[in-house]
Amino acid sequence: MEKMIVMGGKPLNGEVTISGAKNSAVAVIPAALLVDGVCRIENVPNINDVTVLLNILASLGAKHRYVSSDVIDIDCTNLKTHVVPYEMAVKMRASSYLIGSLIGRFNKAEVAMPGGCNFGVRPIDQHLKGFVALGADVKLEHGVVNAVAEKLIASSIYLDVVSVGATINIMLAASKAEGVTHIENASKEPHVVDVANFLNAMGANIKGAGTDVIKITGVRSLHGGTYSIIPDQIEAGTFMLAAAATKGNCLIKNVIPKHLEAITSKLIEMGVQVEEFEDSVRVSRTGELKATNIKTLPYPGYPTDLQPQTVALLSIAKGVSVITESVWDNRFQYIDEVRRMGADIKVDGRSAIIQGVHELMGAPVKMTDLRAGAALIIAGLAANGVTELANLVHIDRGYENLEQKLQALGAQIVRKVCDDAPEFPDVKKHA
Ligand code: EPU
Repeated sequence: MEKMIVMGGKPLNGEVTISGAKNSAVAVIPAALLVDGVCRIENVPNINDVTVLLNILASLGAKHRYVSSDVIDIDCTNLKTHVVPYEMAVKMRASSYLIGSLIGRFNKAEVAMPGGCNFGVRPIDQHLKGFVALGADVKLEHGVVNAVAEKLIASSIYLDVVSVGATINIMLAASKAEGVTHIENASKEPHVVDVANFLNAMGANIKGAGTDVIKITGVRSLHGGTYSIIPDQIEAGTFMLAAAATKGNCLIKNVIPKHLEAITSKLIEMGVQVEEFEDSVRVSRTGELKATNIKTLPYPGYPTDLQPQTVALLSIAKGVSVITESVWDNRFQYIDEVRRMGADIKVDGRSAIIQGVHELMGAPVKMTDLRAGAALIIAGLAANGVTELANLVHIDRGYENLEQKLQALGAQIVRKVCDDAPEFPDVKKHA
């Protein structure tokens, strides 16, 4: 088994470059299934979720080749099937995007119900409602979604919840439907806009992405082209929070500061300095952290995908903070692990009540999902002593070269196979 060993207490200092957005990449790659021709996709993060999706596309007959470490050519001209192998689809949440793309391409799709991080019920009823509105007959049999349409016809679809996945999935299928589709109460997340921009670059006609009504005029076919994925808002936010937690001073490069506004405002409320530049932000802290209250919300609100990392930071802020999770119904499973490190947190329904402690202590902990893994790393970086993190499979799904990026900022973090004692020369002194 691999573990990460973090020797806490060192401020993060220096510069870090943010990779392409995971949640864009995992939608843009399936979107390539709609394209006749070669899509060159730039700024693709090198993470396991991308590898899984490329393997799924290969199983459908697509070809891909890496032009460089973050640029991929995908050619879906000669697809041979609309059936996604069951065991591949269940590996991740984003496999649901294969349904929209394959219906758009073949008027039929057979894809297992998606997997992904487990934080409560993760239904796809709004996705399916969208496909039905576009004229598909959708059945759920033996864990597999089977969707068939004679032809896709545009429709008006009101989403009962603001859903990133449903918005993107309906956009994918509707790009090839006959007529003009409206998605109302659409998600406004940056990656929704990114997928719309990708599809438009390949010849689709989508307007209004980034607002709550998206208008998609179907086209007969999409052509090849080049597209660069936006920087990862959540990776950037994770480094901002890590810099603040360690009393560091970091220049976080290749970001879109507008996407980070909710995080910037909250960090400033906590007494952290944040300077915005054109495509970078500098985060530094010299004084004490102040407690604050936060509610996670769809964009432009505070992102749920930074909730665990923010809890880790607030666990060492002076005073009582309340963080309310309004997107997912059970995204506090990791809190037991942060408590092992000495955090004082109570969960009451959808809120975590955090009584800040003077310092966290290193401990053996387990990642329970992707962002929980990032939270535990932040806690470990800020803690006194050694934190040993297990279940790295979660973090590898979604962060590119996380430990190398942290090492370059001065963190003492290593990955080790087996349960050996850590090899930091000064472990005993600090522990
Ligand atoms: N929902 C429904 N019905 C649906 C779809 C969603 O009730 O058909 C509910 C969900 O249960 C949830 C809420 O709507 O309560 C929002 O779900 P959404 O569909 O927006 O989430 P998602 O598309 O499954 C994406 C990200 C998540 C992120 C959420 C919210 C990807 C691949 N995943 O998930 O990212 O938390 O949006 O912003 O884009 C992560 O990166 O760690 C991650 C979990």
